[in-house]
Formats: sequence, C-alpha cells, structure tokens
Amino acid sequence: MSGVILNQVIKRYGDAKVIHGVDLEIEDGEFCVFVGPSGCGKSTLLRMVAGLEETSAGQISIGGRDVTRADPADRGVAMVFQTYALYPHMTVEENMGFGLKMNGMPKAEVARKVGKAAEILQLGPYLKRKPKALSGGQRQRVAIGRAIVRGPEVFLFDEPLSNLDAELRVDMRVEIARLHKEIGATMIYVTHDQVEAMTLADKIVVLRAGKIEQVGTPMQLYQNPGNKFVAGFIGSPSMNFLNGVVKDGKVCVTALDNRMVESTVALPAEGQSVIVGLRPQNITVREAESTVSIEIRERLGGVAYDYMSTSTKERIVVETKGDEAIPIGTNVALDFDPASAMVFDAETEARLR
Ligand SMILES: Nc1ncnc2c1ncn2[C@@H]1O[C@H](COP(=O)(O)OP(=O)(O)OP(=O)(O)O)[C@@H](O)[C@H]1O
Ligand SMILES: [Mg+2]
Repeated sequence: MSGVILNQVIKRYGDAKVIHGVDLEIEDGEFCVFVGPSGCGKSTLLRMVAGLEETSAGQISIGGRDVTRADPADRGVAMVFQTYALYPHMTVEENMGFGLKMNGMPKAEVARKVGKAAEILQLGPYLKRKPKALSGGQRQRVAIGRAIVRGPEVFLFDEPLSNLDAELRVDMRVEIARLHKEIGATMIYVTHDQVEAMTLADKIVVLRAGKIEQVGTPMQLYQNPGNKFVAGFIGSPSMNFLNGVVKDGKVCVTALDNRMVESTVALPAEGQSVIVGLRPQNITVREAESTVSIEIRERLGGVAYDYMSTSTKERIVVETKGDEAIPIGTNVALDFDPASAMVFDAETEARLR
C-alpha cells in the first residue's frame, strides 16, 4: 500500500507562510493532480512529499509510514521535473541506469530494469543514442525512465510536459495516462494546465495561495464547483461570470439587458449583488435586438468560440458549432437553461445552493 496522507502540513520560508495547513488523502494507485495558478504552492507541496523541502509543521505519511523527517532516498518516491537534465555524454541506456549503478546494483540487474522501462516507454530503438540525438518528447521519456527503474511506490511529476510543444504535449499526456494504467503506482502530478488536470486525474486538488480550494474527481469539480475560483479554473473556455442583482426573488442580469433568471438556489436578500456563472457550452445565440454583439470568432474546426461584449463591458464567450455563422458584429440574445446557471455570492464568491 502506498497511499499518501498529508496532515496539517505547513511550509514557512522565514516569516512567509506559503502552505497553510493542508490536509489531503491520496489513495494507493491513485493519479492525483495538483492544479492552481503560478505561485500557489504546487511545487512546494510536491517537493515536501519528495523530501526536497523541509516540512515546517504537520505530518506526511507514505504507505502508512511517517516520512516527515525521512531522507528523500528513504521515501520510496521518484520525481520527474520540467527540465529533465540528462547527462549529455551518456547514452539513453546509461542515463536510465546511472542511479542504480551508483547504488551498486549488479550490471545484469541494471540492464534488466532498464530494458523493462525502455519497453514500457517504447525507447528500445534509442537505447544507444545520446540525448542530443533525441526529440524533446523522447528526452522526457528517458527522464521518466530514470524514475521507473527505481521502482518507486509513488511517482512525483512537476510540470513534466511544459517544455514540449503543443502537439507533443498531447502525445505525452496520453503516454503518461498509459504508464499509470500499466504500472498502477500512486502518482502525484503538478500542472497549471487545467486540460491536463481534467484528462489525467482520478482526483484533482485545486490550490490557491497555499490552501486547498476543493478536491474531487474532474467531473465533480466541473459539475459541482464550490466557489467561483474553482468554477473559473476548471473547464475550457472558462466559465462566464456576469454581475447580477436579486430582484423580485429572481436574478436580474444587468449585462444581458436586465434579463430575469429564475433560480432555485437560496438567494440573498432583495437588492443584493450576486454573480451568475454560465459555461460557454450551455449558451446558445440568436439574432435579436440587444446590446450584446459578437466581436470576435475563433474557429477551431468542430467548434467555434464567439466572444461577445455587452453594454456593461462584461465579456462573454459562447461555444458554437464550427459551421454556424451569425456574422460578426450582429446583435444577439443569449438563451440558456436557468438550471445550468450557477449563482455565486458577490462578496465571498461561495456558490449559492
Ligand atoms: N526558497 C523560497 N523562499 C521564499 N519563498 C519561496 C521559496 N520558494 C518558493 N517560495 C514562494 O512560495 C510560493 C509557492 O511557490 P511554488 O514554487 O510552490 O509555486 P507553484 O504553484 O509551483 O508555481 P508555478 O506554477 O509558477 O511553478 C511562491 O509565492 C514562492 O514565491
Ligand atoms: Mg511550480
């Protein structure tokens, strides 16, 4: 068993607290993704699990063993970084086996482990090559191979794909999903790319400013975000947020020509401000007399994103079928099922239910 448990984990650098008492349970074999904006503490938290950063307070356990003060080498983890720093003078084979060789493992055993990792990563044809003769994706696979040969209980990835170009990222994302399926080890994966988080994770942990905002499966976070931050972070394009005000027990959306939206949630008192959240996929557009007009259209092939602006200068993006074409500049009305609109408290940004 190699689940990871964080209990009230805190990190301070001098007087600055960057991780504020994180509680988290990652199950054995789970693919857990830490996601959040730059500087929120993703790498710090991962490095604390790895033992590369000291834990200021709280406990970290791996496989039921308290490793809070354990040496990185004694934690049963292997880490893959964004910059993969392979030894340029060594072949792929030597790069992957180097750590084991240094630990005094017999040659035949090293060769067997390297061979197995190369098979999993489809690196067989490249074993005798030096890193400079490899593509970025192949180099990153060698870096992952170095982690695999160590046979860790827990793999830790810190933005391993962010140096790769867009197409390769997609390929490697699929590779990593396949790797997880094949090896079945616990994996913790840091990214600020919500698409990577959605596609790879069994469990997503959304972090903001050193605190957990929400933990859940990708679809739980997408369908049931607890607050505006999570709602805006998960899903692509991001959820639209429009200012509204409570009027006659309904929500009056100023940006949509004072449209009255019926809501089943517990709204605050008459006259209070709220924020209405609408996913771009849940809106349809038709030509109409209005103050909302289509400004820009991004065509992606199968779908298009229409960017609109309102008289109140609020931006709205709507996903449409790629071949539907209301001309740019047309004034439009937006239709949506009121049940698909989420309502947030304007002050606390908590989801109203
Ligand atoms: N050695 C350090 N001393 C002081 N503050 C630090 C140190 N290392 C990191 N920090 C701060 O801790 C916070 C979290 O940093 P961290 O690197 O974990 O962010 P991150 O979520 O990984 O961001 P990114 O997506 O940019 O990689 C940041 O505000 C950062 O400035
Ligand atoms: Mg980081």
